[in-house]
Amino acid sequence: MDISRLSSGYLVRRLGENDIEDIFALCRKNELYYKYCPPFVTRRSIADDMKALPPRKEASDKYYLGYYDGDKLIAVMDLILGYPDEKTAFIGFFMTDTSVQKAGIGSGIIRDLCAGLRDMGLTGIRLGWVKGNPQAEHFWRKNGFSETGVTYDTDGYTVVVAQRVL
Ligand SMILES: CC(C)(COP(=O)(O)OP(=O)(O)OC[C@H]1O[C@@H](n2cnc3c(N)ncnc32)[C@H](O)[C@@H]1OP(=O)(O)O)[C@@H](O)C(=O)NCCC(=O)NCCS
Repeated sequence: MDISRLSSGYLVRRLGENDIEDIFALCRKNELYYKYCPPFVTRRSIADDMKALPPRKEASDKYYLGYYDGDKLIAVMDLILGYPDEKTAFIGFFMTDTSVQKAGIGSGIIRDLCAGLRDMGLTGIRLGWVKGNPQAEHFWRKNGFSETGVTYDTDGYTVVVAQRVL
């Protein structure tokens, strides 16, 4: 995938181990998210997430991406192509820096992502939000995602599976 096609306004690149400190700095300020989706972020959990894959997917399908405004990391996204089916992309994680929130930046990134993935021939995006997390649920609904009717329970919280047709 040509990552540069995913955003009109920001530099997008794959993140690696050298970026963990910056990712940690972005994540740790989003306390509400970890209240609903514990445990709280650590440098180690970021390193693990960078490698984590759903069943039957390979590292080449995974894009653990950083969005940059100049030198500043403003958003992180864990994107899997071709999951759960060939024509669907899966967002495992999406977070913006608290200093830029509520300004439409997150929605703009998702709008561009949808256009970019549609141009590549994908037909849908799937993701999950933690039941009861108002920030996540309102954000995804505002951006055109709706519940599939599927939920699943993990340790301590319930995940609501949602999708958007491209
Ligand atoms: C959700 C998130 C990505 C939104 O980023 P953003 O750059 O602020 O996005 P936008 O400005 O485009 O959209 C803001 C929308 O998010 C929702 N939202 C944000 N904070 C909220 C809160 N405290 N309570 C309820 N809804 C909230 C609202 O729908 C809001 O729209 P509104 O301004 O019309 O009310 C950001 O708040 C974040 O990173 N949160 C922590 C991580 C997370 O929950 N990620 C999503 C699940 S993977």
